[in-house]
Amino acid sequence: DANALWGGRFGSGPAAIMQQINASIGFDQKLWAQDIAGSKAHATMLAAQGIISDADRDAILAGLDQVAREIAEGRFTFTVENEDIHMNVESRLKEIIGEPAGRLHTARSRNDQVATDFKLWVRDAFDRLDTDIQALQAALIDRAEQFPDLIMPGFTHLQTAQPVTFGHHLLAYVEMLGRDRARMRDARKRLNECPLGSAALAGTPYPINREATAAALGFDRPTANSLDAVSDRDFALDYLAAASICGTHLSRLAEEIVIWCTSQFRFIRLTDAFTTGSSIMPQKRNPDAAELVRAKVGRVIGALNGLLIVMKGLPLAYSKDMQEDKEPVFMADETLALCLAATTGMIRDLTPDPAAMRRAVEAGFPTATDLADWLVRSLGVPFRDAHHITGRIVKLAEEAGTGLAEVPLEKMQAVHPGITDAVYGVLTLEASVNSRTSFGGTAPARVREAVAAAKQRFL
Ligand code: ARG
Repeated sequence: DANALWGGRFGSGPAAIMQQINASIGFDQKLWAQDIAGSKAHATMLAAQGIISDADRDAILAGLDQVAREIAEGRFTFTVENEDIHMNVESRLKEIIGEPAGRLHTARSRNDQVATDFKLWVRDAFDRLDTDIQALQAALIDRAEQFPDLIMPGFTHLQTAQPVTFGHHLLAYVEMLGRDRARMRDARKRLNECPLGSAALAGTPYPINREATAAALGFDRPTANSLDAVSDRDFALDYLAAASICGTHLSRLAEEIVIWCTSQFRFIRLTDAFTTGSSIMPQKRNPDAAELVRAKVGRVIGALNGLLIVMKGLPLAYSKDMQEDKEPVFMADETLALCLAATTGMIRDLTPDPAAMRRAVEAGFPTATDLADWLVRSLGVPFRDAHHITGRIVKLAEEAGTGLAEVPLEKMQAVHPGITDAVYGVLTLEASVNSRTSFGGTAPARVREAVAAAKQRFL
């Protein structure tokens, strides 16, 4: 049979395959609470404007509440015949309250309805994510507070560069996640304009009050252009872009966890709760959760690319292509929440191995820059020359198979006669990190301050 809600001019119903490709109820039922909230705001406004009677409004509101209860309690049967969440709700409303249900869609289209519902959903998703990201920041800050002076190698090109502290390294991720939260707050603010009342694309002749529905749904104001309002999916792209950047941060941390867990590095150990064994190699402890975070973030970035490609060719205003906006966002949201929770778990679970970190950092002449800086400060050598002199001393140490601090003074003086005993004071790892006191630097005193500041800024 033809569709009861839009089938007036249709002689027969859709082909089975038409119904299958057209129906979105399989995924957009996630929007049920937003759809009912939007309909209640719309009906309330219609009555306030004298467009429907108060009696019809009351019937509609009571009926929508019943639909909401049925869905919440799992007693609602979604059908593909009703295509999407909007028509599933409305046709059930009609079964419950009869004729007044037909007045709900006055001065409204599914085009402004779906844009409104989806914005409400994405807005909630931003709020949930903010809490999840903050929980990971809290875990990182806790662990940083525990290890403000634990020395490990800092890398560039994954080659030992200069000693840093483990607390400082963890706090780097707290900053990234802080920017992720700010990006999401910013996107949330930008999406908070209400499309409802834009109708199909051109607005409506009914004397509606768009400020009222916008306010009732917690939006800051109505959208300013009806064509834009029904064709805009920037908010979904903003969501996926912010989620992709956040995911990229999680993936980089996951990659570090994988590296740190190798027997070559052994910087950290994860407990049995966050590792798995191999079915053939009994010695293995694999950091699967980190590997899966690293991999799953690929889906989120894929979702962003997918929706960009859907949107890039669409003329104004609504096209059915836009129905493809929801699954990537729902999937990305689920994935990111899972990755955040797993990462928070790993950060709380890990135990660093200070001896392994020290062995690794000592192997790489990490205080070479400190030696060069000493030549500049104590002897007035230009930095470029100091760099060269230090390079020659590094070569001596390398040939002797020792660290810089073990190169005898006479050998150093053979490279530069002005070098004195005092140089050994800057060649230890502790001296190196303690000296990095510039704001944002790795000196333990600075890291302790940064922990306190991070608590203020983020928790
Ligand atoms: N299910 C549709 C979507 O998600 C709702 C809007 C349908 N509008 C239309 N004119 N067919 O995009």
